[in-house]
Amino acid sequence: MSDARILRFHTADKVFHGVNAILWFALVFTGGVVYLTDVSNATGENLMFWHIVLGILFSFNLLAYLVFAPDRFALMIHACTTWDANTFAWFKNFGGYPRRFFKIPFGPVEVAPQGRYNAGQKLSYLMFMAAIVMLVVTGILLWLFAPALGKSAFQFMFYLHVWGSLLITVLVVCAHIPLALCSMPHFLGIWRLGAGDITYHSAEHHSPVWLEKDVIRTNIEK
Ligand code: HEM
Repeated sequence: MSDARILRFHTADKVFHGVNAILWFALVFTGGVVYLTDVSNATGENLMFWHIVLGILFSFNLLAYLVFAPDRFALMIHACTTWDANTFAWFKNFGGYPRRFFKIPFGPVEVAPQGRYNAGQKLSYLMFMAAIVMLVVTGILLWLFAPALGKSAFQFMFYLHVWGSLLITVLVVCAHIPLALCSMPHFLGIWRLGAGDITYHSAEHHSPVWLEKDVIRTNIEK
């Protein structure tokens, strides 16, 4: 089994994730500079123009995933919303990360076996997907329907848009990316051009329940 590889990410998952991630940081840059720094009016207008262009592409990326790969979207959401005893047991030692990274002997040594995603991933991916939808909706409302919103609704949307995106950015930069880099087979699987597969060993290590229950075996000996 050592050379075997397991298909984890389909092309639609990779395209959605890659385009979303690149546009996310371009949007944070264009929006953040205007909101958090003191730029001239001309620069601010120029950056806002690009913020809206990038926001339209960002919205179409989500729409394309929903329209062209609804099964992949549903699979991800289903995997994130399915919680069993092992998912809850993950919190007894937070996946062993405090022990592994900070030498803090928190909870049992053994990590409860996880499905496609561990409990931390389930929580964060649900937050990420909710944030993406929220940003598309509030972005469109702020851009096209500002006069109809009224002052307090506009302010509420604005703060949700700005601070919601910054909160998720902190989570992505401080947790999602560092943890992704700790698992190279998964990192390469989702980011490389080409096959979205990972090593059998990595699937067995991170997602044994998924490997056992959900992965379709194509090489069963007759
Ligand atoms: C350069 C930045 C990023 C890197 C390096 C990165 C890395 C990764 C990796 C390696 C995975 C696969 C984990 C697994 O095996 O399940 C993943 C999945 C995921 N990431 Fe990111 N990510 C980045 C940015 C983002 C951003 C900005 C978002 C959204 C706010 C995001 C949302 C997700 C979601 C929802 C998944 C699950 C996708 C699926 O299983 O189909 N990522 N990311």
